Amino acid sequence: MQRVRVAVIGAGGIGATHLRAYAAWPELCTVAGVADIDRTAAEATAAPYGALPLFTDPIELLDLLRPDAVSICTPPREHLPLARAAAQRGIACLCEKPPARTVAEAEAIVSAFAESGALLQFAFCHRFHEPLRQVQALIAEGKLGKVIQIYNRFGFRFDRAATSWFTNAELAGGGVLIDTLVHSLDLFRVLAGEIVRVDAAVSTTLPVAVEDSASLQVVSASGVIGSLNCSWVTPVSEAEIRVWGSEGEAVIDYAAPDGARYRLAGQEAWTVLPFEGPDRFVLQAEHFLTSVRSGRQPAVGAADGIAVMRAIESAYRSTASQPRGDKA
Ligand SMILES: NC(=O)c1ccc[n+]([C@@H]2O[C@H](COP(=O)([O-])OP(=O)(O)OC[C@H]3O[C@@H](n4cnc5c(N)ncnc54)[C@H](O)[C@@H]3O)[C@@H](O)[C@H]2O)c1
Repeated sequence: MQRVRVAVIGAGGIGATHLRAYAAWPELCTVAGVADIDRTAAEATAAPYGALPLFTDPIELLDLLRPDAVSICTPPREHLPLARAAAQRGIACLCEKPPARTVAEAEAIVSAFAESGALLQFAFCHRFHEPLRQVQALIAEGKLGKVIQIYNRFGFRFDRAATSWFTNAELAGGGVLIDTLVHSLDLFRVLAGEIVRVDAAVSTTLPVAVEDSASLQVVSASGVIGSLNCSWVTPVSEAEIRVWGSEGEAVIDYAAPDGARYRLAGQEAWTVLPFEGPDRFVLQAEHFLTSVRSGRQPAVGAADGIAVMRAIESAYRSTASQPRGDKA
């Protein structure tokens, strides 16, 4: 395959990010077209990329353009029908997180691609964040010793949460837990291995019917314990991962201009690693495009999507015993 003809379905916030990421790789792809049920959104998001074919019916885009690959960037309720439509046409798919609303839906997506043989990558973009890769390398080299504890927080004030699909459980599958902790669970699996236990606590501050803050206690098969936290209602934006091992600690601060920092037992000062090169969305697009071109399975695949969805469902189940009044 020469250059991958890639289309984007869903031209909102993350659809724009996928278009920007594909535009960074002109030697790997051409953007074939954009679909959004809201024509104004499609026009506005596609505008910087020239006169692209635009569609308000995503199936029409798939049938008329027959792209090699597609990004699915719609709310989660649409992931299964659109991914299945792509799979049935043999079109490779980069499907946004969360993979779907439930384990059953995620499994249906995975089955559709297994049957068609087309390539499926779930968009766990943090895998491509260079500081995360630096910490993975520190762990793999044994510098931090045995990993003991992991802390993560993705917190901010999400002003449009109450008025958008993000707080509509029918469209989103839940609230901030499925939306944001889906990233945290994937990160924890990358750093600590398979998750064997999840306990969640949730709360709701906005006048919405889903949780808008959530904390998880998780345990990996190798005994690493994690505290994963997120909120849509706290004013100071914070995105951080900390890893404590028997021989040292490492920090990924998404607000820092540099890469990860770490210090080993007995050291006062931090060693700060450099962070150069493209952002995670651009590197995620490169990985997807090169996988499509080579036919190689992507590093973030079907099993990752299902494992994370299982942890999400366990987390929601665990809130059943939370005292009423604090529960979403
Ligand atoms: N990886 C990340 O960091 C990240 C960040 C934000 C959002 N997301 C995910 O991306 C997806 C979209 O989120 P967003 O923030 O871009 O939402 P958004 O509301 O900004 O955009 C969604 C777009 O999808 C369109 N749409 C809805 N149904 C459609 C359909 N059937 N066919 C075509 N278009 C349709 C809407 O009109 C809208 O323009 C969600 O799954 C979300 O969780 C991922």
